[in-house]
Amino acid sequence: MATEQDRTNDGRTGPPPQAVLMPLLWGHPVAHLLRTMLRLGVADRFGDGEATAEEMAAHCGTLPEPTRRMLRALVPLGLVAEVRPDAFRLTPAGALLRADHPESMAATIRVFTTPAMVRAWEHLEDGLRTDGPVFDALLGHDYFTHIRKDPELSAAFNTAMSQTTRATAEVLPGHYAFGRFGTLVDVGGGDGTLLAAVLAAHPGLRGILYDSAAGLAEAAPRLERAGVADRCALETGDFFVSAPAGGDAYLLKSVLHDWTDERCGVILDGIRRVVPDDGRLLIVEPVLPAPGSAPAGGDPGPYLSDLTMMLALGGRERTAEDFAALCAASGFRLTSVTTLPAPSTFSLVEAVPV
Ligand SMILES: C[S@@+](CC[C@H](N)C(=O)[O-])C[C@H]1O[C@@H](n2cnc3c(N)ncnc32)[C@H](O)[C@@H]1O
Repeated sequence: MATEQDRTNDGRTGPPPQAVLMPLLWGHPVAHLLRTMLRLGVADRFGDGEATAEEMAAHCGTLPEPTRRMLRALVPLGLVAEVRPDAFRLTPAGALLRADHPESMAATIRVFTTPAMVRAWEHLEDGLRTDGPVFDALLGHDYFTHIRKDPELSAAFNTAMSQTTRATAEVLPGHYAFGRFGTLVDVGGGDGTLLAAVLAAHPGLRGILYDSAAGLAEAAPRLERAGVADRCALETGDFFVSAPAGGDAYLLKSVLHDWTDERCGVILDGIRRVVPDDGRLLIVEPVLPAPGSAPAGGDPGPYLSDLTMMLALGGRERTAEDFAALCAASGFRLTSVTTLPAPSTFSLVEAVPV
């Protein structure tokens, strides 16, 4: 016999439609709540301990009663637990909002909830009508210019990229035969989190970390901490102008999704000019199912990232077919697409020069 739940889901199992919809309605307030927590240093004040609303208010410079209301709202969101009446502490998820947590996500949340990013999403309708970035119209310059004009935001962006790259850095070095190469170039490699992990796992390999000056600002200490600084050169440049010569393999992680096909073509052409005939192009990004090949579903992250890239820079997340076409247009042949193991949610796309 069909239950009420079956009927409301048109025969499929799952929560009732209202229970699906209502949490989505609160997405925007929750994002602001997270941002405000970070601005006020709520998670850092908790640390490993407890705090009352009054103690937290004294730290934040806010009023006790509204602060109590904020802490209460964080309980059902799974970020804070009320361990006794008016004694709160962080849950394991809330602890990731601490700046000093080894798996901190604080910078990522800060960067993706900046007022400029929120404004960009307010203009989603414009983006849908133009398939283009809205940042230029809103701010008079593109997303990277916006970030790089503000040194604090720029450092937070580099840290955010490192935080979101950690999961892939855990699994990529053991997933691909990097040991056969002499030099790996990470193009747009940011602070070097991924390259450092690959170099640490392959002691015979050398690296070139290539990015803008602002992108490389946090790289030297990162490579030092990983113990690979002596095998990794830092090279400042513009990947729309050229890529460093001397690599056997060229890595692009979370770079192509920022850009239109045309701009990706310029980056790939630059790599094609310097990659040796037996070299490799390695793209690490989420790979979407081709429209019509499999229903979109599962983790909404790549689809929301797809729209974020459109709004920020006119970029997109891509299917395997999209990557094959991009590669072909710049003189590469796609040879494989493999899903990386958890905790990464990305795939490795390999291509060879033709
Ligand atoms: C989305 S981040 C990815 C960083 C890193 N690959 C990762 O996955 O953690 C894109 C990178 O491209 C760099 N970038 C943007 N425009 C660039 C340009 N014109 N030339 C060189 N690097 C650039 C940024 O500084 C940033 O580090």
